[in-house]
Amino acid sequence: MIEIRNVRKSFGNHEVIKGVSLEVKKGEVLCLIGASGSGKSTMLQCINGLEPIQAGEILVDGISVHAKSTDLNLLRQKLGIVFQQYNAFPHLNALENVALAPRIVRKMRPKDALEIAREHLDYVGLSAQAEQYPTSLSGGQQQRLAIARALAMKPDYMLFDEVTSALDPELVGEVLDTIRKLRTNGMTMIMVTHDIAFARESADRVAFFDGGVICEIGDARQVITAPNKERTQQFLQRVLH
Ligand SMILES: Nc1ncnc2c1ncn2[C@@H]1O[C@H](COP(=O)(O)OP(=O)(O)O)[C@@H](O)[C@H]1O
Ligand SMILES: [Mg+2]
Repeated sequence: MIEIRNVRKSFGNHEVIKGVSLEVKKGEVLCLIGASGSGKSTMLQCINGLEPIQAGEILVDGISVHAKSTDLNLLRQKLGIVFQQYNAFPHLNALENVALAPRIVRKMRPKDALEIAREHLDYVGLSAQAEQYPTSLSGGQQQRLAIARALAMKPDYMLFDEVTSALDPELVGEVLDTIRKLRTNGMTMIMVTHDIAFARESADRVAFFDGGVICEIGDARQVITAPNKERTQQFLQRVLH
């Protein structure tokens, strides 16, 4: 379980997360929506320990992310993260890209790491592209490769930050299908998305971020089809029309 307790985060004297509390239970899918600059990406980076916080606490399975005694490398094995930009190593083929972290971080034997990599390429539908280099893959394939790389570390949680935003429209579906499959298989996920229809269909809950706070959170269908707060209504009207 991920527990976020009254977290505050500033860049210099610009406070961008202004007291956020949130719990995500095992198996739950939470979507974060909200205008650009509302703090969604920063929130994900705080959860994964990529950014320090100024107040509050984040616990992942009871481990305090920002405690000095926490081994961030170990913690990050629990949390897979995929960003909008593709981040594969250009000099490694798809299979080697997925095998790298299991070999280096998990210290698996090369043969075992390659086997894990094959399994995960198969899971995201990229078996046929195993020998290809990232630049020869489409954007949709590169995002599926990024998901396979994260999954190969056997994370308990997946964090997605607008993973379809940079894609041509015809490539969005294949990436969303991979995320749907993860959901079906019970993966706990926090996803930042602009795709409101996808959030409504695939999330258990939706949190609407507004100016560094959660303005509204609740059942995905309720928040999107019948929001309680006027700010949420205004935002949804802007993005849906
Ligand atoms: N590394 C950074 N340094 C300074 N300001 C940042 C940094 N990252 C984000 N910000 C600022 O924090 C605010 C929230 O950004 P972000 O979390 O990226 O929002 P969102 O993902 O909702 O678009 C924005 O005002 C942004 O300019
Ligand atoms: Mg963002």
